[in-house]
Parts: sequence; structure tokens; C-alpha cells
Amino acid sequence: MSTAPTDERGLITPIRFDGDGLDLLDQRVLPRQVAWVRCSTSGEVAQAIAAMVVRGAPAIAVTAAYGMALAARRGEDLRAAAAVLLASRPTAVNLRWALERLASVPAEGLADAARAIHAEDAAINRALGDHGAAVLPSAPTVYTHCNTGALATGGWGTALGVIRSVHHGTAPSHRDAEARRIHVFVGETRPYLQGARLTAWECLQEGIDCTLVVDSAAAVVLPRCDAVLVGADRVAANGDTANKIGTLSLAILARHHGVPFFVCVPSSTLDPRCPDGDAIPVEERGAEEVLGHAGAHWAADVPVFNPAFDVTPASLVTGWITEHGLREPPFGEVAG
Ligand code: MRU
Repeated sequence: MSTAPTDERGLITPIRFDGDGLDLLDQRVLPRQVAWVRCSTSGEVAQAIAAMVVRGAPAIAVTAAYGMALAARRGEDLRAAAAVLLASRPTAVNLRWALERLASVPAEGLADAARAIHAEDAAINRALGDHGAAVLPSAPTVYTHCNTGALATGGWGTALGVIRSVHHGTAPSHRDAEARRIHVFVGETRPYLQGARLTAWECLQEGIDCTLVVDSAAAVVLPRCDAVLVGADRVAANGDTANKIGTLSLAILARHHGVPFFVCVPSSTLDPRCPDGDAIPVEERGAEEVLGHAGAHWAADVPVFNPAFDVTPASLVTGWITEHGLREPPFGEVAG
């Protein structure tokens, strides 16, 4: 098992910008290998996002922001660069949020503005994590889906950030050793295995007690859980929530079993311009992700439908945890 690259505080640092280039921890090959992809132009950054070198809505936004800084450094047409970056993944609204925020920044200020987006996202996740912990009992057992941790954000994580806040005792609600004993069921997250490959790896690095289950075991283990914690790529104004494929099934199961279902998001994931789930663009990805993985090909060559996300109706969500605390729709222009 490879070891995570960390900063001086021991935090995983998968996105590194040195002013002239962007180094991205290659999430396609984790946990077998720690490898980096270096990007020098906005086009290379867009390609890395589309290929899932980096993934997770807030991490995509941070990466695209650095893509704009590189575009300025290389003297690229900034409007064209922003358009290419925006098209790299359609569902994560954080991407649009970051590019719109940078649109009014002069070229010479883009590097600092991108660094600020990165640092802010990490701080937002810390606040979100501490608020989220408050909805959990002492020594909780939770279920999570996909990867919403340091790999998927500017640092710490959203749903996994809540788990970190409990485990590390940063949340006022979970300061003492007994309260901090959290157990996490990690859903494998077919087809791309973000749970099995990334969340399990992050948990292992920090000694967070976790058990990996196949997605179809969720119905069996949910009765042992105090809550389901997931992230999102976009939350519509009415609360309908797009997240990794499998989230909707999980929400239905959670309702069946009477388990609270929380969506953990920075305000940049709330999309007041999107009235409801029908208006959320859902990315479809290639057949190869379903037919096999990492060079192995196990399925017959048949047609494949591979939606990367699904939309959970607001009625199945217990609450939305943001950096401002527990929130309810409608989510207006002043998000959060
Ligand atoms: O396809 P991915 O891996 O980018 O999907 C990621 C998710 O669905 C996450 O739950 C979401 O982006 C939130 S990450 C904090």
C-alpha cells in the first residue's frame, strides 16, 4: 500500500502548484501507486480533469482555478481557456463557480486568486466537518459513498471531513476519546471504485476505523448505522442533489431503514440558478469503466449505460451540512 504525500501538518496534499506548473496526484492509479501528473497549460489541466486524474467537485474547482493561472502564465486566451476547463466535467457546479469568480480577476492576479480558492476550500471543509459532527451521536457508525476526502477537495473533505472532525476530535461535539471512536462503512462505489480505492486508503492513512462493503451490501449494513454521509456535485435550489451514481439507491435504503441521510457540501456546490434536479446535467462516461478496470476486462462486449451521477430528490435528504451549519432548501442566491 502506498503512503500519502502530506504537508508539515500531516494533511494529504494531492494538488501542488509552484507558479510554473501544477502537480496532480494521479487518482487513477491509487492506492497501488503514488504517481504525479504535471500540467503546464490550461489544456493539460482540462484533460487531467476529464480523465479523472483529479476528481471530486471541490478539487475539480481548485484544479481549474490553477488551470486559469497557468493560462495567464503562458499568455493563453483566457476566455478560451475558461471555456475548455468548464467543459471538462459537466455536473460539478463548483467548476463553474470557480471560473466565474476568476472571470473578473486580471491575468497577473490569477495565481494568487487560485491559491486563495484552494486555501478557502480547505478552511470551509474544516468548518463543515465540525458542524456535521454535531448531528452525530457519540462513537457513531456511519456509511459513506464515493470519495469526499482530502483527495476530492482543497483539503480535509466534506462527508469524509465530518468523519475526520469526529476522529481527530476537532469538533466541539466529539472532544473526548470515547465520543471520537467512529466506525465507517465504506461503499465500494462501482464502477470507478472511489470508495474502495480512495476513501479506504485515506481512512487507513489516518487510522480511521473502516470496513469496506460492496455497494449492494448497503441494505444489510445500514441498520447498524447512525447516519449516511455523502457529498454532492450540485444541489439544486429545491434541494435535489446530484452525487455519485448509487447515492439515490442509498437514500432510498436509508429512508426504508429510518437512517438519517445527510449531504455535506461547501456553499459552492449549491446552485440557486438550477431550480430542481431535472435541470442538472448528468455526465455519462465511457463503457470501459463498466466493462473492466485498470487493464482487466471482465464483461462481455455488450452495450453499456454509465451515468456518473444520479439525482436524489430533496424529500429523501434529512439535511444539508455546509460550512454555515445545517441548512434546508430553498437555496437562494446568497447560498448557505
Ligand atoms: O466522479 P467523481 O469521482 O468526481 O465523483 C465525486 C463525487 O460524486 C463526490 O461525492 C462529490 O464530487 C463530492 S466530493 C467532496
